[in-house]
Amino acid sequence: MAGGDPYWLLNAFLITLLCIVIVSSGDPDADILLKFKKSLANDAALSNWNSSTNPCVGKWVGVKCWEGNRIWSLKLENMGLTGQIDVDSLVGLPYLRGLSFMNNSFDGPMPKVKVLRALKSLYLSHNRFSGEIPDGAFAGMGLLKKVYLSHNSFSGKIPSSLLGLSKLLELRLDGNQFEGNIPDFQQKGLQLLNVSNNYLQGPIPASLSNMDSSSFSGNDGLCGKPLKSCDSNKNKKSPLSKTVIILICIGLALVILGAVLVVLHRQGESRSGKAPENDNQTRAVTCEGDKMERGTSGYSGNNNKKVEPPAKLTFVRDDREKFELNDMLRASAEILGNGSFGSCYKAVLSNGAAIVVKRYKYMNNIEREEFQEYMKRLGTLTHPNLLPLMAYYYRKEEKLLVTDFIGNGSLASKLHGKQTTGELRLDWPTRLNIIKGVAKGLAFLYDELPNLTLPHGHLKSSNVILNESLEPLLTDYGLLPVINQEHAVHLMVAYKSPEYAQCGRTTKKSDVWCLGILILEILTGKFPAASISKQGNKGSDEDLACWVSSAIREERAVEIFDKQMEGTKNAEGEVLKLLNIGLCCCEADTDKRWDIKEAVERIEELKERDNDDDFYSLISEGEMPSTRSLMAEIELSL
Ligand SMILES: *[C@@H]1O[C@H](CO)[C@@H](O)[C@H](O)[C@H]1NC(C)=O
Ligand SMILES: *[C@@H]1O[C@H](CO)[C@@H](O)[C@H](O)[C@H]1NC(C)=O
Ligand SMILES: *[C@@H]1O[C@H](CO)[C@@H](O)[C@H](O)[C@H]1NC(C)=O
Repeated sequence: MAGGDPYWLLNAFLITLLCIVIVSSGDPDADILLKFKKSLANDAALSNWNSSTNPCVGKWVGVKCWEGNRIWSLKLENMGLTGQIDVDSLVGLPYLRGLSFMNNSFDGPMPKVKVLRALKSLYLSHNRFSGEIPDGAFAGMGLLKKVYLSHNSFSGKIPSSLLGLSKLLELRLDGNQFEGNIPDFQQKGLQLLNVSNNYLQGPIPASLSNMDSSSFSGNDGLCGKPLKSCDSNKNKKSPLSKTVIILICIGLALVILGAVLVVLHRQGESRSGKAPENDNQTRAVTCEGDKMERGTSGYSGNNNKKVEPPAKLTFVRDDREKFELNDMLRASAEILGNGSFGSCYKAVLSNGAAIVVKRYKYMNNIEREEFQEYMKRLGTLTHPNLLPLMAYYYRKEEKLLVTDFIGNGSLASKLHGKQTTGELRLDWPTRLNIIKGVAKGLAFLYDELPNLTLPHGHLKSSNVILNESLEPLLTDYGLLPVINQEHAVHLMVAYKSPEYAQCGRTTKKSDVWCLGILILEILTGKFPAASISKQGNKGSDEDLACWVSSAIREERAVEIFDKQMEGTKNAEGEVLKLLNIGLCCCEADTDKRWDIKEAVERIEELKERDNDDDFYSLISEGEMPSTRSLMAEIELSL
């Protein structure tokens, strides 16, 4: 027995030591990147990659993170890097989506990238890679959208595994020595394919006939639309044919150029015909727009306003009538409000359409290309309870996001603003319907943006827009990846959650907490502290959830509900159920808090009117149905 204690102590000591060693061995992501760095030969540009900091916190060169700690992309361009690219070591970075080694001095065969199955973009252009790319080099990389291999010395056939990339948007193979036929790309989304300056031959697949002819130039043996047809190619195999092809190409180019000029000319005419009517319009967004254009960096030399600005709106949906940035900037506008990220305007275009333009200042978390790609992704989101993103304008210092203008204002202004007579009231059935719609929209975001911890991130009553029939539409969703981390933490509602206050992190259930607060807000008519953006990160003391719970405990139930909420007669049971759901969503302990699935299911079950069976089943046998006993029920489940 006497010897037992020292041994036990020794064991404890060793375990403690082991823990310390494990902890101090540091960030696994840092270890991975340092291992990767070792495989490079000339890594001078990566001098701040060292073990004294963490890749995300220490802002390692070329490393992009999101949500503060997840390595999202490596952009190692123009660094004179040589040596091996140790792709295998990167497999340990589960969030890695983008990889760029453009314009370095790597040589040798194509890196075996297919182990990085979740990659969305791969840029290897302007290096000295050579040799054939194995046919299956891209097999299984189902998320790949952009593949740039231009200006290397790749040879052999275009690998057929590229055909299996269903999400492919851009493929650049120009400036290599690829030979053989162009395979039959069938991807509907393929926007850019450039195979110019290779040794390709044979017919251009019909699926690519709409591409620009410059995508195919510099390949002597290619034929078919958009180049000249293949028939004449067969007939004339004389040395003349090259000249003929070139002549035809030039001819075609001239015709196209002519056509383009004519179209541009006409557009110019019709535009200048419209312009004067805007002149005497009231307040215009132009005051802001001018500043923006003058300040535009990277597009120097356009200080003359008459010159068409290179800046343009990029539309991310096909189902909206397109307009020019200029139309928008000239449109009469009114300020709708100043949100946490910047101002928000309503503008009425010359065609009468009303739009909302939101300015965002702190949206530089990712590079331009990724930003564009991400906006396109957001533009594909279509759901009856989402306000779709229509277009965006990108400038380094500031972004504009454009949506439709929806007539009935936000839920916040309906709940807390002055009621004008004759306005539609938010009675109980309407509020229930709004919560159901919000829950559906949120669940859709969870499905569509599964990689985001916070699919919405900024759910609050002022980001719920109501249409003419008071159906809710979520807005400002999915912006976390693009908002600068420090501002996201400061401004976004999900960062007001108890888990962020206590542990400094958000979880998949943080948006559920926001939903819970919204439910309590809509039932009580009280403005939650969490929605006030100026609030610090400390958990708000007068938290709505605490207030409601204590009101229930102290039997002040009468005080809880918004006096403006009518139509609760014979619906008390359902109202209380929704209150309970709100509280469960606000549960501070994330383990106990419901997940989105459970929350949505419970909300879906709610009805406008109490169903008698339902109502009685909630209450212990023999008791009269009363609010009092339901309160007891709720307290039990708290
Ligand atoms: C590590 O990088 C930091 C900059 O991020 C630098 O200040 C420091 O000197 C580096 N340490 C070593 C040992 O290179
Ligand atoms: C390529 O990188 C070098 C530095 O390694 C830089 O000087 C050069 O401008 C870059 N070229 C392009 C086209 O970006
Ligand atoms: C294809 O690439 C070549 C240069 O490599 C460029 O001149 C041409 O404009 C590009 N075409 C398209 C449609 O991108």
